[in-house]
Amino acid sequence: MVLFSSLTPVFIAIICVLIGVIMKKTNGEKEKRDTESRHPSRPWVDEDLKDGTDHPLEEEEGEEEWQGLEENVAHVPFAGERYSEAEMIERSRAFYELLNQRRSVRFLSDEPVPREVIDNVIRTAGTSPSGAHTEPWTFVVVQDPDLKHKIREIVEEEEEINYKKRMGDRWVNDLKRLRTNWIKEYLDTAPYLILIFKQVYGRLPNGKKKTHYYNEISVSIACGILLAALQNAGLYTVTSTPLNCGPQLRVLLRRPANEKLLLLLPVGYPKKDATVPALTRKPLEDIMVLM
Ligand SMILES: Cc1cc2nc3c(=O)[nH]c(=O)nc-3n(C[C@H](O)[C@H](O)[C@H](O)COP(=O)(O)O)c2cc1C
Repeated sequence: MVLFSSLTPVFIAIICVLIGVIMKKTNGEKEKRDTESRHPSRPWVDEDLKDGTDHPLEEEEGEEEWQGLEENVAHVPFAGERYSEAEMIERSRAFYELLNQRRSVRFLSDEPVPREVIDNVIRTAGTSPSGAHTEPWTFVVVQDPDLKHKIREIVEEEEEINYKKRMGDRWVNDLKRLRTNWIKEYLDTAPYLILIFKQVYGRLPNGKKKTHYYNEISVSIACGILLAALQNAGLYTVTSTPLNCGPQLRVLLRRPANEKLLLLLPVGYPKKDATVPALTRKPLEDIMVLM
C-alpha cells in the first residue's frame, strides 16, 4: 500500500506524458489535414514558384524586418493621347490582326537578331503596370552559346522527368496534339533566351525587405506585353514554363533567392521548315459577356 501510494505521482506523471503525446499527434494530423485542404496537391504548380496569389510565402517570412514604401511622389498633370472614333476602330482592328498572327513557334533558326530590338522589347515589357508600382521583374537575356547549352541541359533533364513522372497521363495526352516533348533544340538555336523572374520581395536602400504586392500577376502582365512587343517587332517565341527548373536556372544565372523563374522565352525567327499546330481561337461571343 505504502509502495503503491509512493508510486502514484510517477503513474500520474506517466499518464500526463501519454495524454500530451496523444494530443500532440492528433493536433499534428489535424494541422496536416488543414494544410492539405488549403493547398491540395496540384502537379501543374511549380514547386519553386509558390505563386503568391495561392500560397503563403512561408519560407520568405524570416526574422528580417519588412518595411512599406514611404516616398512621397509628386502628382503631375496628365493629358492622354486622344484619337477620333474612326481612328480608334482602325487602330484596335489593326492591333488585333497583328496579334492574331502570333503563334508559339518551337522551331527557331540561329539567324541573328539585332540586340537593339531585344533592348526595346524588354523596355516595353518594363512599362507594365505593377502592384503599388513595385516593378517586381528581372529579364535575363542570354546570348552566350555555352550558357544557352547549359540551360538546355537543365531543362531537358527536368522536362524528361516531368513528362515521364510528374505530369501524369492526362497532361501528357493533352500535349500530344501540340507535338511537344522534352527535347528543346530551340534552347541552342534561338539567338536569345529571355528568362523572366518574378521578385517575390524587393530590397529597400536600407536593406529591409520591401513587399512586392501581386508580384506574380504583375510579372505575368509584363510577359504579355513582352509577347506583344516581340510580335510587333517580327520576332517569334514559344511561351515556356520549365517546370521545376527554376532553382537550378536561378543558380546558373546567379540570380538572388528572392527571384523565381516564371517563364523562359526563346527568341528568334522560325526555321524554314517550321510548323505549328492548326489551332483555332475562340470567337468573341465565347470569350466576352456583355451586360
Ligand atoms: C502559361 C503557359 C505555359 C506554356 N508552357 C509551354 C511549354 O512549357 N512548352 C510549350 O511548348 N508550350 C508552352 N505554352 C504554349 C502553349 O502551348 C500555346 O500558347 C498554345 O498551344 C496556343 O498556341 P499559340 O500560342 O500558337 O496560340 C505555354 C503557354 C502558356 C500561356
